[in-house]
Amino acid sequence: MPHTHNITLIPGDGIGPEVTSATVAILEAAGKSTGVTFDWHTYDAGADAFAKTGEYIPKALYDSIEQNRVALKGPVTTPIGGGFSSINVTLRKKFDLYANFRPIKNLPGLKTNYPNIDLVIFRENTEDLYSGLEVMINPDIAQSFKIITTKGSTRIAKSAFDYALKHGRKKVHAIHKANIMKLSDGLFLRCCKSVASQFPDVTYAEHIVDNTCMQLVLNPYQYDIILTENLYGDILSDLCSAFVGGLGLVPGANLGAHCAIFEAVHGSAPDIAGQDKANPTALLQSALLMLDHIDEAQTATNIRTALDRVYTEGKTLTRDVGGTAGTRAFSEAVIAAL
Ligand code: NAI
Repeated sequence: MPHTHNITLIPGDGIGPEVTSATVAILEAAGKSTGVTFDWHTYDAGADAFAKTGEYIPKALYDSIEQNRVALKGPVTTPIGGGFSSINVTLRKKFDLYANFRPIKNLPGLKTNYPNIDLVIFRENTEDLYSGLEVMINPDIAQSFKIITTKGSTRIAKSAFDYALKHGRKKVHAIHKANIMKLSDGLFLRCCKSVASQFPDVTYAEHIVDNTCMQLVLNPYQYDIILTENLYGDILSDLCSAFVGGLGLVPGANLGAHCAIFEAVHGSAPDIAGQDKANPTALLQSALLMLDHIDEAQTATNIRTALDRVYTEGKTLTRDVGGTAGTRAFSEAVIAAL
């Protein structure tokens, strides 16, 4: 039966519009054989939105996400050391998208130093130093507030363990720095431990974050699910993306009780923006997570098979993974492989 989905689309800025239009083209092409169509409700956010509407996140965008409950989002630039607050963090908080799910898996045919990686990061997405609470005590002392709560820590731990049970994963590592931040990270760990006790079939372990960085580079295979706070999760995600070929590949989902926003791990990559160089695979794989979320598994499977074929053949790959193809040529190759 033909099925139309209303999806809020935020192309973002930098490489965002390029990877978004490549992804949309692939989804629409794949939908033709499965009878799935998409009604994209497209909005700017960030500096572009401000220039047009006077708002960094237009009210119409909030309303659209509220209504559709599913969004596909390109990266949005956040000014450094001043300017407006991160659009990404604001949306995650506004819709209480507390679980940032980031699967890290090799693509077939793409050679890396770490073959057969298959690990998952569950990053708490609404608290920690990303609370945005900062004050200048005086001109020479700045203070940032790290917020960790029982509610936030327990629900992200529950997400990680539920996922482990559902997908036959064996081990959850809670990553922390509770030796130094005894209260905040101590609370996070107590919550993780308490949730772990309800899942006797899943092994639970704890690693300190600095050691984790070394352990990951030495032997990432010891990790199955990484469960961690907001800041550590952000940093570890970029590190882990390098195992499978870099930021151009790794997808993500921001999941809450009522809605979900799907976006790649990477940012707006200003160094390659507007040059037809960006790899759209990370956003495409985020869109595949979205298709699973909206129960369009067949369309997702067809795209996954085509994507695997393009990587296995290795003839039309983008520069970040050793090829010479542009964003558009890559997406045309995936469409041709469908
Ligand atoms: P970045 O992820 O944009 O880029 C880091 C490096 O990876 C660059 O060399 C870039 O060219 C490369 N890269 C990233 N995505 C790629 C892709 N799809 N294909 C090929 N190469 C790719 O990180 P950076 O430079 O630290 O941040 C740039 C801006 O993005 C900042 O304003 C930051 O705040 C924002 N950002 C936004 C995010 C979001 O919207 N969710 C997430 C992360 C950063």
